[in-house]
Amino acid sequence: MVQEVVTFLDAQRGGVFVDATFGGGGHTRAVLAAHPANRVLACDRDAAALDAGRQSLGADAERVEFVHDDYRSLPGLLAERSDLEPLGVVVDMGISTIQLLDPQRGFAFRLDGPLDMRLDQTTGRCAADLVNDLPEPELRQIIFRLGEERHAARVSRAIVDRRRSLPFTSTADLAEVIRQAIPAAVRRQLKIDPATKTFQALRIAVNDELTGLQEFVTDLITGLTPGARAVFIAFHSLEDRPVKRALRRMESPCTCPPSLPVCACGLQPLVRLLNRRAARPQAAEVESNPAARSARLRAAERIAA
Ligand SMILES: C[S@@+](CC[C@H](N)C(=O)[O-])C[C@H]1O[C@@H](n2cnc3c(N)ncnc32)[C@H](O)[C@@H]1O
Repeated sequence: MVQEVVTFLDAQRGGVFVDATFGGGGHTRAVLAAHPANRVLACDRDAAALDAGRQSLGADAERVEFVHDDYRSLPGLLAERSDLEPLGVVVDMGISTIQLLDPQRGFAFRLDGPLDMRLDQTTGRCAADLVNDLPEPELRQIIFRLGEERHAARVSRAIVDRRRSLPFTSTADLAEVIRQAIPAAVRRQLKIDPATKTFQALRIAVNDELTGLQEFVTDLITGLTPGARAVFIAFHSLEDRPVKRALRRMESPCTCPPSLPVCACGLQPLVRLLNRRAARPQAAEVESNPAARSARLRAAERIAA
């Protein structure tokens, strides 16, 4: 949804923009192309993505400052960097196609590779640690809540049964155990690979992707100057919900009971929503990039309180 991002950011203004999720650099490139004076602060948890970006951007890399960090640290970083005053921020959540298609990263159930799934490979527990070490009830909760997998109990039991004799090390091995755990009749009806939801759950858990998301959106926008814009792209409802909640709350923060004739709490709106319903990708984009089919874009402008 690159064109929508450029439009919602109003990137023709010439100034500093933040790409909170650099990935393959598509949004950064588009923002740089929108105005010769544009500069980008490009953040990603994946150091390899930033390294590849430094190379592939060529001379344009001079207009980019790369930050290897979790985007949840951006509100703090921007508060310290009064030289930046961004005109817009884009947060394109989830994983990139580059990460998904690299078997060594362990995100893909159709490719065999190590069970890693960390966005930041310099730190933290990988997926193998979770599936081999977590107690069964905790594993079941993760698969149920973060994968919204109805058959979480069967899947977690199958994982725990299997790991007793042989711990998991590879994606293909884990995917096959998950597939076999789903009842055959259900498997036949499914439009997606039976391992999809469990892999999503493990990825979210490994990277702790949902913690503090609503606070992040609130803090990020609160720290922007009036007129600056923020664009969020989520790929599933677990990510989209906290974004939507934070934006709605900032648009209508008043906590007074409806029976009060005038507002007494004094809380003022901090944003203007640029789209009331999430924007979805055009059919042509979904055709050329099926992974984009579930993207939901929400955009807002910081207003003076
Ligand atoms: C959907 S991709 C972004 C694609 C990018 N917009 C492009 O045009 O190529 C998401 C990227 O965000 C990164 N990411 C995910 N969660 C993150 C977080 N909490 N902090 C920083 N980067 C994150 C991932 O490593 C990945 O590179």
